[in-house]
Amino acid sequence: KILILDFGSQYTQLIARAVREANVYCEIIPYHKTFVVEPGLKGIILSGSPFSVNEPGAPDVDIQDMISKVPVLGVCYGAQLTARRFGGLVAKSNKREYGRAQLQRTNDDVIFQDMAAQSQVWMSHSDTIKELPAGFELLATTESIPVAAFRKAAAGADHPLYGVQFHPEVYHSSEGKKLLKNFLVNICGCAQDWTSAHFVTDTVEALKKQIGDRKVIMALSGGVDSTVAATLIHRAIGDRLFGIFVDNGVLRKNEFEEVLATYDKIGLNVKGIDAKDRFYSELAGKTDPEAKRKTIGKLFIDVFQEEANKVQGVGLLGQGTIYPDVIESVSVHGPSVTIKSHHNVGGLPEKMHLELVEPLRYLFKDEVRRVGRELGIPSEMLDRHPFPGPGLAIRILGEITPEKVHLLQEADHVYIKGLKDNNLYATVWQAGTILLPVKSVGVMGDERTYEFTVALRAVTSVDGMTADWAHLPYEFLANISSEIINNVRGINRVVYDISSKPPATIEWE
Ligand code: XMP
Repeated sequence: KILILDFGSQYTQLIARAVREANVYCEIIPYHKTFVVEPGLKGIILSGSPFSVNEPGAPDVDIQDMISKVPVLGVCYGAQLTARRFGGLVAKSNKREYGRAQLQRTNDDVIFQDMAAQSQVWMSHSDTIKELPAGFELLATTESIPVAAFRKAAAGADHPLYGVQFHPEVYHSSEGKKLLKNFLVNICGCAQDWTSAHFVTDTVEALKKQIGDRKVIMALSGGVDSTVAATLIHRAIGDRLFGIFVDNGVLRKNEFEEVLATYDKIGLNVKGIDAKDRFYSELAGKTDPEAKRKTIGKLFIDVFQEEANKVQGVGLLGQGTIYPDVIESVSVHGPSVTIKSHHNVGGLPEKMHLELVEPLRYLFKDEVRRVGRELGIPSEMLDRHPFPGPGLAIRILGEITPEKVHLLQEADHVYIKGLKDNNLYATVWQAGTILLPVKSVGVMGDERTYEFTVALRAVTSVDGMTADWAHLPYEFLANISSEIINNVRGINRVVYDISSKPPATIEWE
């Protein structure tokens, strides 16, 4: 295992994902957390940071102590901290270095194995290392900075220590992943055995141990995380897992039936509960988005609890929690990493007072999908777009009625099916249709119409934190527009949302 000490950089999670991609397990911990050097620990990576090492109160760690135990790699701030701690000079550079640079190697090293002599790297720093400490060797430079990579010469029983000023973890560092892999394999001696297959075997064993002969209850949402988590638990304990999937009346068209059919295909023991009418009557008259969210969340818990009570002797609650939901972030100026985690089943653990089973707690989203594939879960389930817990309720602006839900479901169905039929579905991160609370005038044949408008939304994104509107082909949009207006009675106007996040959000409510 590799530990990544987080100094508050926006890229810390990318380092972790790059390490995992090299099939090496790693965890992120805040730099100030004390950690034990367990036998399995193979190395430490120090992240970047928005701080300057020269600022009073800047994050600091004892690197000498670390290299007495394992190899260490400092990235950006981590490299500057290393240089400064061992007696080098770090100072403000004349200009802020941001963007692409060409890495020029000045010395050979195993950390560069299989890398080209010159490669593009991504810089993002305002301090720079002006002088290396005594006993340190320069490994690379760029046109604008004298020290782009270095190592500490072997001394006594110390483990290797490296520093890189650039960000090997970002996409724009063309050979950054190779460099990280070289550090992990050549320098730390990691075995690269963190694979989906191993994860499945180990997790199923661990789940058997944790659960014993008890029963697990779990809310399934039709989403990737809960489905993969449930499938793992099912592998461990079979039908002692009781899944519950609630139709809250604001799912997509045919979603309830289709998702239940997929669960059946996977072999999961899931009970579908049609609670549409209860949701509609609780939602009646509510227009405020937060009130709608709360109503749905609360009623969901009630329905789930009623169903859970029908299963005798349940001991544990399964959850599809994933790693980004639980990483402790370093607070810089306020919370540095603002991970927005809307929990579909928020509040359940607190209410249920049951021991939790969270088999995906240490996985990133892309790893969850990979594990899902390993488990044989169909791709129509694994490659679904994210869908919010409150569903269409936050895509119907204003009050929700069953009629409006029906209208939106029909329009949305045309749009999503169109995306799939035109091979566009996988090119966007999320797509959906929004029913606006306005009516406008139109003509159809000789008739004047006065009907609703829908907005189509499609975005590209990596994690939903930021997003760009998807540049879908005009031709496609034109076809969808006429298909909706011609086939969905009650809608006479279609618009396309061209706002990015920020400043807009993905959902309209
Ligand atoms: P926003 O609208 O904040 O959405 O840009 C970012 C991502 O979060 C989803 N979302 C929700 N998911 N419950 C959820 O489970 C919610 O209340 C909720 N609100 C937004 C949204 O679909 C997008 O993927």
